[in-house]
Amino acid sequence: MTDRILLADYIVSADEKGTIYKDCGIEITNGIITNIKKFTVDELRLFGGEVEDYSGQVIIPGFIQTHIHLCQTLFRGFADDLQLLDWLQKRIFPFENAHNRKSLRLSASLGICELLLSGTTTIMDMGTLRHQEVIFNTLIKSGIRAFAGKCMIDQNDLLPEFKSTTEKELDETYHLAEQFHNSNNGLIKYAFAPRFVLSCSEKLLKKTKEMMSLFEGSLYHTHASENKNEIEVVRHMHNKENIEYFDSIGVLDKNTVLAHCIHLNESEIDILKEKDVRVAHCPSSNLKLGSGIAPIPTYLKKGINVSIGADGAPCNNNLDMFKEMHLASLIQKPVHGPTSMDAETTFRLATIEGAKALHIDNITGSLEVGKKADLVCLNFYECDQPVYYDENNIYSLIVYSGNKNLVESVMVDGKWLVEGGFMTRGDEFEIYNDASIEYKKLLKRL
Ligand code: GUN
Ligand code: FE
Repeated sequence: MTDRILLADYIVSADEKGTIYKDCGIEITNGIITNIKKFTVDELRLFGGEVEDYSGQVIIPGFIQTHIHLCQTLFRGFADDLQLLDWLQKRIFPFENAHNRKSLRLSASLGICELLLSGTTTIMDMGTLRHQEVIFNTLIKSGIRAFAGKCMIDQNDLLPEFKSTTEKELDETYHLAEQFHNSNNGLIKYAFAPRFVLSCSEKLLKKTKEMMSLFEGSLYHTHASENKNEIEVVRHMHNKENIEYFDSIGVLDKNTVLAHCIHLNESEIDILKEKDVRVAHCPSSNLKLGSGIAPIPTYLKKGINVSIGADGAPCNNNLDMFKEMHLASLIQKPVHGPTSMDAETTFRLATIEGAKALHIDNITGSLEVGKKADLVCLNFYECDQPVYYDENNIYSLIVYSGNKNLVESVMVDGKWLVEGGFMTRGDEFEIYNDASIEYKKLLKRL
Protein backbone atom coordinates (compact mmCIF):
# COMPACT_ATOMS: atom_id res chain seq x y z
CA MET A 1 0.00 0.00 0.00
CA THR A 2 1.36 3.44 -0.94
CA ASP A 3 2.50 5.59 1.96
CA ARG A 4 1.24 9.15 1.70
CA ILE A 5 1.26 12.59 3.16
CA LEU A 6 -1.98 14.52 2.56
CA LEU A 7 -1.59 18.30 2.86
CA ALA A 8 -4.67 20.42 3.61
CA ASP A 9 -5.72 23.89 4.73
CA TYR A 10 -7.36 22.45 7.83
CA ILE A 11 -7.56 19.02 9.44
CA VAL A 12 -10.57 18.68 11.75
CA SER A 13 -9.48 15.85 14.03
CA ALA A 14 -12.55 15.22 16.28
CA ASP A 15 -10.05 14.13 18.94
CA GLU A 16 -10.91 14.54 22.66
CA LYS A 17 -9.77 18.21 22.63
CA GLY A 18 -11.39 18.98 19.28
CA THR A 19 -8.03 19.93 17.74
CA ILE A 20 -8.15 21.64 14.35
CA TYR A 21 -4.78 21.70 12.56
CA LYS A 22 -4.00 24.55 10.15
CA ASP A 23 -1.71 24.11 7.12
CA CYS A 24 -0.61 20.65 8.22
CA GLY A 25 -0.29 17.21 6.71
CA ILE A 26 -1.43 13.71 7.65
CA GLU A 27 1.14 11.00 7.12
CA ILE A 28 -0.33 7.58 6.40
CA THR A 29 1.79 4.45 6.58
CA ASN A 30 0.23 1.11 5.67
CA GLY A 31 -3.24 2.56 6.07
CA ILE A 32 -2.51 3.91 9.58
CA ILE A 33 -2.14 7.59 10.53
CA THR A 34 1.47 7.94 11.68
CA ASN A 35 1.84 11.71 11.94
CA ILE A 36 -0.19 14.92 11.84
CA LYS A 37 1.96 18.02 11.77
CA LYS A 38 3.42 20.86 9.75
CA PHE A 39 5.94 19.18 7.42
CA THR A 40 9.02 21.11 6.30
CA VAL A 41 9.86 21.47 2.61
CA ASP A 42 12.79 19.10 3.11
CA GLU A 43 10.67 16.47 4.87
CA LEU A 44 8.24 16.53 1.96
CA ARG A 45 11.03 16.41 -0.62
CA LEU A 46 12.71 13.44 1.02
CA PHE A 47 9.47 11.52 1.75
CA GLY A 48 9.55 8.09 0.10
CA GLY A 49 5.81 7.87 -0.62
CA GLU A 50 3.37 10.17 -2.35
CA VAL A 51 2.71 13.74 -1.26
CA GLU A 52 -0.85 14.72 -2.20
CA ASP A 53 -1.72 18.37 -2.10
CA TYR A 54 -5.23 19.18 -0.90
CA SER A 55 -4.55 22.87 -0.35
CA GLY A 56 -7.85 24.71 -0.44
CA GLN A 57 -9.51 21.71 1.19
CA VAL A 58 -10.45 20.53 4.67
CA ILE A 59 -9.89 16.96 5.83
CA ILE A 60 -12.36 15.47 8.31
CA PRO A 61 -12.87 11.97 9.75
CA GLY A 62 -15.20 9.82 7.64
CA PHE A 63 -18.81 9.91 8.80
CA ILE A 64 -20.18 6.91 10.70
CA GLN A 65 -23.84 6.01 10.18
CA THR A 66 -25.07 3.59 12.82
CA HIS A 67 -28.44 2.68 11.28
CA ILE A 68 -28.89 1.93 7.56
CA HIS A 69 -31.03 -0.44 5.44
CA LEU A 70 -29.08 -1.03 2.21
CA CYS A 71 -31.74 -3.46 0.99
CA GLN A 72 -34.25 -0.58 0.82
CA THR A 73 -32.28 1.81 -1.42
CA LEU A 74 -34.09 0.57 -4.52
CA PHE A 75 -37.44 1.63 -3.03
CA ARG A 76 -36.64 5.33 -2.68
CA GLY A 77 -39.58 7.50 -3.66
CA PHE A 78 -42.05 4.61 -3.69
CA ALA A 79 -43.14 4.62 -0.04
CA ASP A 80 -43.81 8.22 0.88
CA ASP A 81 -46.23 9.91 3.25
CA LEU A 82 -47.15 6.93 5.42
CA GLN A 83 -46.82 6.24 9.16
CA LEU A 84 -44.45 3.44 10.22
CA LEU A 85 -46.77 0.43 10.43
CA ASP A 86 -48.61 1.27 7.19
CA TRP A 87 -45.29 2.03 5.52
CA LEU A 88 -44.00 -1.42 6.53
CA GLN A 89 -47.21 -3.29 5.73
CA LYS A 90 -48.14 -1.64 2.42
CA ARG A 91 -44.75 -1.01 0.96
CA ILE A 92 -41.53 -2.06 2.66
CA PHE A 93 -42.23 -5.66 3.71
CA PRO A 94 -43.77 -6.53 0.30
CA PHE A 95 -40.82 -4.87 -1.46
CA GLU A 96 -38.20 -6.64 0.69
CA ASN A 97 -40.10 -9.89 0.25
CA ALA A 98 -39.81 -9.52 -3.53
CA HIS A 99 -36.01 -9.15 -3.57
CA ASN A 100 -33.94 -11.70 -5.43
CA ARG A 101 -30.17 -11.85 -5.29
CA LYS A 102 -29.66 -9.46 -8.18
CA SER A 103 -32.08 -6.77 -7.03
CA LEU A 104 -30.60 -7.00 -3.53
CA ARG A 105 -27.05 -6.61 -4.85
CA LEU A 106 -27.99 -3.53 -6.83
CA SER A 107 -29.93 -2.03 -3.94
CA ALA A 108 -26.88 -2.45 -1.70
CA SER A 109 -24.48 -1.16 -4.37
CA LEU A 110 -26.63 1.87 -4.97
CA GLY A 111 -26.76 2.63 -1.25
CA ILE A 112 -23.02 2.19 -0.75
CA CYS A 113 -22.32 4.53 -3.71
CA GLU A 114 -24.46 7.23 -2.18
CA LEU A 115 -22.92 6.75 1.26
CA LEU A 116 -19.33 6.88 0.03
CA LEU A 117 -19.92 9.79 -2.35
CA SER A 118 -21.37 11.80 0.56
CA GLY A 119 -18.48 11.04 2.91
CA THR A 120 -19.66 8.08 4.99
CA THR A 121 -16.89 5.56 5.62
CA THR A 122 -18.52 3.26 8.22
CA ILE A 123 -22.08 1.97 8.45
CA MET A 124 -24.15 -0.41 10.50
CA ASP A 125 -26.69 -2.12 8.24
CA MET A 126 -29.87 -3.95 9.30
CA GLY A 127 -29.85 -6.40 6.39
CA THR A 128 -32.90 -8.28 5.15
CA LEU A 129 -34.61 -11.63 5.64
CA ARG A 130 -33.14 -13.56 2.71
CA HIS A 131 -29.89 -13.65 0.70
CA GLN A 132 -27.92 -11.77 3.37
CA GLU A 133 -24.65 -13.11 1.95
CA VAL A 134 -25.26 -10.87 -1.08
CA ILE A 135 -25.15 -7.77 1.13
CA PHE A 136 -21.94 -8.97 2.77
CA ASN A 137 -20.29 -9.67 -0.57
CA THR A 138 -21.33 -6.26 -1.91
CA LEU A 139 -19.94 -4.55 1.21
CA ILE A 140 -16.68 -6.45 0.86
CA LYS A 141 -16.30 -5.52 -2.80
CA SER A 142 -16.90 -1.84 -2.05
CA GLY A 143 -14.17 -1.51 0.59
CA ILE A 144 -16.42 0.34 3.07
CA ARG A 145 -16.15 -0.38 6.81
CA ALA A 146 -19.36 -2.02 8.03
CA PHE A 147 -21.24 -3.86 10.71
CA ALA A 148 -24.01 -5.89 9.08
CA GLY A 149 -26.24 -8.85 9.75
CA LYS A 150 -29.22 -10.76 8.55
CA CYS A 151 -32.47 -9.12 9.58
CA MET A 152 -34.31 -11.66 11.78
CA ILE A 153 -38.10 -12.06 11.63
CA ASP A 154 -39.94 -15.07 13.08
CA GLN A 155 -43.42 -13.55 13.48
CA ASN A 156 -45.14 -11.03 11.26
CA ASP A 157 -48.77 -9.94 11.48
CA LEU A 158 -48.15 -7.16 8.96
CA LEU A 159 -47.10 -9.55 6.16
CA PRO A 160 -47.28 -13.20 7.30
CA GLU A 161 -45.34 -14.57 4.32
CA PHE A 162 -42.36 -12.33 5.18
CA LYS A 163 -40.88 -14.35 8.04
CA SER A 164 -39.02 -17.55 8.84
CA THR A 165 -38.97 -19.95 11.80
CA THR A 166 -37.08 -19.23 15.01
CA GLU A 167 -34.73 -22.19 14.49
CA LYS A 168 -33.96 -21.29 10.90
CA GLU A 169 -33.34 -17.67 11.79
CA LEU A 170 -30.88 -18.64 14.52
CA ASP A 171 -29.18 -21.27 12.41
CA GLU A 172 -28.73 -19.07 9.35
CA THR A 173 -27.55 -16.17 11.49
CA TYR A 174 -24.95 -18.31 13.23
CA HIS A 175 -23.51 -19.50 9.93
CA LEU A 176 -23.41 -15.99 8.48
CA ALA A 177 -21.64 -14.69 11.59
CA GLU A 178 -19.11 -17.52 11.36
CA GLN A 179 -18.46 -16.70 7.73
CA PHE A 180 -18.40 -12.90 7.75
CA HIS A 181 -17.50 -11.60 11.26
CA ASN A 182 -14.06 -9.96 10.94
CA SER A 183 -13.92 -10.63 7.19
CA ASN A 184 -12.21 -8.37 4.61
CA ASN A 185 -9.21 -7.77 6.92
CA GLY A 186 -11.52 -6.83 9.80
CA LEU A 187 -13.44 -4.16 7.85
CA ILE A 188 -16.61 -6.24 8.18
CA LYS A 189 -18.10 -7.20 11.53
CA TYR A 190 -21.33 -8.94 12.42
CA ALA A 191 -24.28 -7.01 13.85
CA PHE A 192 -27.07 -9.32 15.02
CA ALA A 193 -30.28 -7.76 13.77
CA PRO A 194 -33.63 -8.87 15.16
CA ARG A 195 -35.87 -6.34 13.40
CA PHE A 196 -38.11 -5.05 16.21
CA VAL A 197 -40.31 -6.41 18.99
CA LEU A 198 -43.35 -6.79 16.74
CA SER A 199 -41.57 -9.19 14.40
CA CYS A 200 -39.55 -11.23 16.90
CA SER A 201 -40.46 -13.90 19.43
CA GLU A 202 -38.99 -13.59 22.91
CA LYS A 203 -36.99 -16.74 22.26
CA LEU A 204 -35.45 -15.21 19.12
CA LEU A 205 -34.54 -11.97 20.91
CA LYS A 206 -32.93 -13.80 23.84
CA LYS A 207 -31.13 -16.54 21.91
CA THR A 208 -29.72 -13.93 19.53
CA LYS A 209 -28.21 -12.05 22.48
CA GLU A 210 -26.65 -15.28 23.73
CA MET A 211 -25.24 -15.93 20.26
CA MET A 212 -23.80 -12.42 20.09
CA SER A 213 -21.59 -13.13 23.09
CA LEU A 214 -19.87 -15.92 21.09
CA PHE A 215 -18.58 -13.41 18.53
CA GLU A 216 -16.29 -10.90 20.21
CA GLY A 217 -16.69 -7.39 18.83
CA SER A 218 -20.11 -8.09 17.33
CA LEU A 219 -23.18 -6.01 18.20
CA TYR A 220 -26.94 -6.30 18.78
CA HIS A 221 -28.84 -3.93 16.50
CA THR A 222 -32.60 -3.39 16.54
CA HIS A 223 -35.38 -0.78 16.34
CA ALA A 224 -37.09 0.56 19.46
CA SER A 225 -39.85 2.97 20.46
CA GLU A 226 -40.09 4.66 17.09
CA ASN A 227 -43.82 5.09 16.71
CA LYS A 228 -46.75 5.50 19.11
CA ASN A 229 -48.82 2.73 17.47
CA GLU A 230 -45.79 0.43 17.59
CA ILE A 231 -45.28 0.89 21.35
CA GLU A 232 -49.01 0.43 21.92
CA VAL A 233 -48.75 -3.00 20.26
CA VAL A 234 -45.66 -3.79 22.37
CA ARG A 235 -47.65 -2.84 25.49
CA HIS A 236 -50.48 -5.08 24.38
CA MET A 237 -48.14 -8.01 23.63
CA HIS A 238 -45.94 -7.82 26.72
CA ASN A 239 -47.65 -5.55 29.20
CA LYS A 240 -44.55 -3.38 29.28
CA GLU A 241 -43.02 -0.37 27.60
CA ASN A 242 -40.61 -1.23 24.76
CA ILE A 243 -37.35 -0.51 26.62
CA GLU A 244 -38.65 -2.08 29.84
CA TYR A 245 -39.49 -5.20 27.87
CA PHE A 246 -36.02 -5.39 26.29
CA ASP A 247 -34.52 -4.92 29.75
CA SER A 248 -36.73 -7.60 31.29
CA ILE A 249 -35.45 -10.20 28.80
CA GLY A 250 -31.80 -9.22 29.27
CA VAL A 251 -30.87 -7.88 25.84
CA LEU A 252 -29.71 -4.41 26.90
CA ASP A 253 -26.05 -3.64 27.49
CA LYS A 254 -23.22 -1.62 25.97
CA ASN A 255 -23.22 -3.83 22.87
CA THR A 256 -26.83 -3.00 22.02
CA VAL A 257 -27.61 -0.22 19.52
CA LEU A 258 -31.25 0.88 19.42
CA ALA A 259 -32.46 2.85 16.42
CA HIS A 260 -34.90 5.74 17.04
CA CYS A 261 -35.75 5.75 20.80
CA ILE A 262 -38.34 8.51 20.41
CA HIS A 263 -41.16 7.60 22.81
CA LEU A 264 -39.54 6.72 26.15
CA ASN A 265 -40.72 7.48 29.66
CA GLU A 266 -38.27 8.67 32.31
CA SER A 267 -37.61 5.27 33.76
CA GLU A 268 -36.86 3.89 30.29
CA ILE A 269 -34.34 6.69 29.74
CA ASP A 270 -32.75 5.72 33.06
CA ILE A 271 -32.50 2.13 31.83
CA LEU A 272 -30.63 3.29 28.71
CA LYS A 273 -28.15 5.11 30.93
CA GLU A 274 -27.80 2.36 33.49
CA LYS A 275 -27.26 -0.37 30.86
CA ASP A 276 -25.01 1.86 28.72
CA VAL A 277 -27.19 1.21 25.65
CA ARG A 278 -26.36 3.17 22.49
CA VAL A 279 -28.97 5.24 20.64
CA ALA A 280 -28.91 5.57 16.82
CA HIS A 281 -30.71 8.81 16.08
CA CYS A 282 -32.47 9.04 12.68
CA PRO A 283 -33.77 12.61 12.43
CA SER A 284 -34.96 12.68 8.78
CA SER A 285 -36.68 9.33 9.02
CA ASN A 286 -38.35 10.30 12.30
CA LEU A 287 -39.73 13.46 10.72
CA LYS A 288 -40.76 11.98 7.39
CA LEU A 289 -42.66 9.04 8.91
CA GLY A 290 -44.18 11.52 11.35
CA SER A 291 -42.81 9.38 14.19
CA GLY A 292 -41.72 12.25 16.44
CA ILE A 293 -38.63 14.01 17.75
CA ALA A 294 -36.25 12.01 19.92
CA PRO A 295 -35.18 13.88 23.10
CA ILE A 296 -31.50 13.82 22.12
CA PRO A 297 -30.34 16.77 24.31
CA THR A 298 -31.82 14.94 27.31
CA TYR A 299 -29.93 11.76 26.40
CA LEU A 300 -26.69 13.69 25.94
CA LYS A 301 -27.11 15.49 29.27
CA LYS A 302 -27.47 12.09 30.96
CA GLY A 303 -24.32 10.84 29.25
CA ILE A 304 -26.07 8.34 26.96
CA ASN A 305 -24.13 7.63 23.76
CA VAL A 306 -25.93 9.01 20.69
CA SER A 307 -24.86 8.58 17.08
CA ILE A 308 -26.62 9.21 13.77
CA GLY A 309 -28.02 7.11 10.90
CA ALA A 310 -30.04 7.95 7.80
CA ASP A 311 -32.14 4.76 8.15
CA GLY A 312 -33.45 3.49 4.76
CA ALA A 313 -33.78 5.42 1.51
CA PRO A 314 -37.61 5.11 1.42
CA CYS A 315 -38.12 6.81 4.81
CA ASN A 316 -35.62 9.65 4.51
CA ASN A 317 -35.19 9.82 1.36
CA ASN A 318 -31.41 10.38 1.37
CA LEU A 319 -28.42 8.61 2.87
CA ASP A 320 -26.46 11.83 3.22
CA MET A 321 -24.92 12.62 6.63
CA PHE A 322 -24.84 16.35 5.85
CA LYS A 323 -28.65 16.37 5.77
CA GLU A 324 -28.82 14.28 8.97
CA MET A 325 -26.47 16.61 10.87
CA HIS A 326 -28.39 19.65 9.68
CA LEU A 327 -31.71 18.28 10.90
CA ALA A 328 -30.28 16.65 14.05
CA SER A 329 -29.24 20.11 15.14
CA LEU A 330 -32.15 22.24 13.95
CA ILE A 331 -35.09 20.11 15.13
CA GLN A 332 -34.01 20.41 18.78
CA LYS A 333 -33.65 24.18 18.87
CA PRO A 334 -37.34 25.18 19.09
CA VAL A 335 -37.77 22.97 22.17
CA HIS A 336 -34.35 22.96 23.83
CA GLY A 337 -33.18 26.44 22.77
CA PRO A 338 -30.75 27.71 20.13
CA THR A 339 -27.63 26.71 22.06
CA SER A 340 -28.67 23.04 22.11
CA MET A 341 -27.08 20.70 19.57
CA ASP A 342 -24.42 23.19 18.49
CA ALA A 343 -22.52 22.43 15.29
CA GLU A 344 -19.45 20.89 16.94
CA THR A 345 -21.54 18.59 19.16
CA THR A 346 -23.55 17.48 16.15
CA PHE A 347 -20.40 16.88 14.08
CA ARG A 348 -19.04 14.70 16.89
CA LEU A 349 -22.21 12.57 16.92
CA ALA A 350 -21.63 11.97 13.19
CA THR A 351 -18.00 10.91 13.69
CA ILE A 352 -16.34 9.92 16.99
CA GLU A 353 -19.58 9.19 18.87
CA GLY A 354 -20.56 6.80 16.05
CA ALA A 355 -17.23 5.03 16.52
CA LYS A 356 -17.88 4.80 20.27
CA ALA A 357 -21.36 3.36 19.62
CA LEU A 358 -19.76 0.56 17.62
CA HIS A 359 -16.77 0.15 20.00
CA ILE A 360 -14.31 0.96 17.21
CA ASP A 361 -13.17 4.35 18.53
CA ASN A 362 -9.71 2.83 19.06
CA ILE A 363 -9.34 2.54 15.27
CA THR A 364 -11.56 5.19 13.66
CA GLY A 365 -13.96 8.12 14.23
CA SER A 366 -11.23 10.75 14.59
CA LEU A 367 -7.97 11.68 12.91
CA GLU A 368 -5.27 10.75 15.41
CA VAL A 369 -1.93 8.99 15.26
CA GLY A 370 -2.41 5.23 15.49
CA LYS A 371 -5.90 5.18 13.97
CA LYS A 372 -6.87 3.85 10.55
CA ALA A 373 -7.00 6.40 7.75
CA ASP A 374 -10.79 6.75 7.28
CA LEU A 375 -11.14 10.34 6.06
CA VAL A 376 -12.88 12.75 3.73
CA CYS A 377 -11.53 15.76 1.80
CA LEU A 378 -14.02 18.61 1.58
CA ASN A 379 -13.76 21.29 -1.05
CA PHE A 380 -15.57 24.41 0.15
CA TYR A 381 -15.30 25.97 -3.29
CA GLU A 382 -18.20 23.61 -4.09
CA CYS A 383 -20.36 25.42 -1.52
CA ASP A 384 -23.51 27.05 -2.90
CA GLN A 385 -22.13 30.43 -1.80
CA PRO A 386 -18.52 31.62 -1.77
CA VAL A 387 -17.22 31.20 1.77
CA TYR A 388 -14.36 32.23 3.95
CA TYR A 389 -13.46 29.53 6.45
CA ASP A 390 -11.13 29.12 9.37
CA GLU A 391 -11.08 27.25 12.66
CA ASN A 392 -13.81 29.52 14.04
CA ASN A 393 -16.55 28.68 11.55
CA ILE A 394 -15.58 25.31 10.15
CA TYR A 395 -18.13 23.25 12.14
CA SER A 396 -20.81 25.76 11.26
CA LEU A 397 -20.02 25.49 7.54
CA ILE A 398 -20.07 21.69 7.68
CA VAL A 399 -23.24 21.26 9.77
CA TYR A 400 -25.38 24.30 8.89
CA SER A 401 -24.27 25.04 5.30
CA GLY A 402 -22.62 21.84 4.10
CA ASN A 403 -23.86 19.38 1.54
CA LYS A 404 -22.54 16.31 -0.19
CA ASN A 405 -21.19 18.34 -3.11
CA LEU A 406 -18.34 19.36 -0.80
CA VAL A 407 -17.05 15.78 -0.78
CA GLU A 408 -14.12 15.48 -3.14
CA SER A 409 -12.26 12.36 -2.02
CA VAL A 410 -12.92 9.60 0.49
CA MET A 411 -10.43 7.16 2.01
CA VAL A 412 -11.26 4.01 3.97
CA ASP A 413 -8.52 2.00 5.67
CA GLY A 414 -5.86 3.93 3.76
CA LYS A 415 -7.40 3.35 0.31
CA TRP A 416 -9.07 5.98 -1.86
CA LEU A 417 -12.64 4.82 -2.59
CA VAL A 418 -13.74 8.20 -3.99
CA GLU A 419 -11.43 10.49 -5.94
CA GLY A 420 -12.42 13.80 -7.48
CA GLY A 421 -16.07 13.06 -6.71
CA PHE A 422 -16.12 9.66 -8.46
CA MET A 423 -16.00 6.09 -7.18
CA THR A 424 -12.68 4.33 -7.70
CA ARG A 425 -14.21 0.83 -7.56
CA GLY A 426 -17.15 0.09 -9.82
CA ASP A 427 -18.93 2.45 -12.15
CA GLU A 428 -21.71 4.36 -10.37
CA PHE A 429 -23.48 5.17 -13.64
CA GLU A 430 -23.68 1.50 -14.53
CA ILE A 431 -25.08 0.80 -11.05
CA TYR A 432 -27.72 3.56 -11.44
CA ASN A 433 -28.77 2.11 -14.76
CA ASP A 434 -28.89 -1.55 -13.64
CA ALA A 435 -30.70 -0.61 -10.42
CA SER A 436 -33.56 1.02 -12.30
CA ILE A 437 -33.95 -2.11 -14.44
CA GLU A 438 -33.97 -4.32 -11.33
CA TYR A 439 -36.55 -2.16 -9.61
CA LYS A 440 -38.94 -2.60 -12.56
CA LYS A 441 -38.42 -6.38 -12.49
CA LEU A 442 -39.01 -6.42 -8.72
CA LEU A 443 -42.34 -4.64 -9.20
CA LYS A 444 -43.41 -7.39 -11.59
CA ARG A 445 -42.61 -10.02 -8.93
CA LEU A 446 -44.82 -8.30 -6.34
N1 GUN B 1 -39.09 -0.82 12.29
C1 GUN B 1 -39.05 -2.07 11.82
N2 GUN B 1 -38.55 -2.12 10.58
C2 GUN B 1 -38.27 -0.85 10.24
C3 GUN B 1 -37.71 -0.25 9.06
O1 GUN B 1 -37.40 -0.88 8.06
N3 GUN B 1 -37.56 1.10 9.11
C4 GUN B 1 -37.91 1.85 10.18
N4 GUN B 1 -37.73 3.17 10.13
N5 GUN B 1 -38.42 1.31 11.28
C5 GUN B 1 -38.60 -0.02 11.31
FE1 FE C 1 -34.61 1.40 10.38
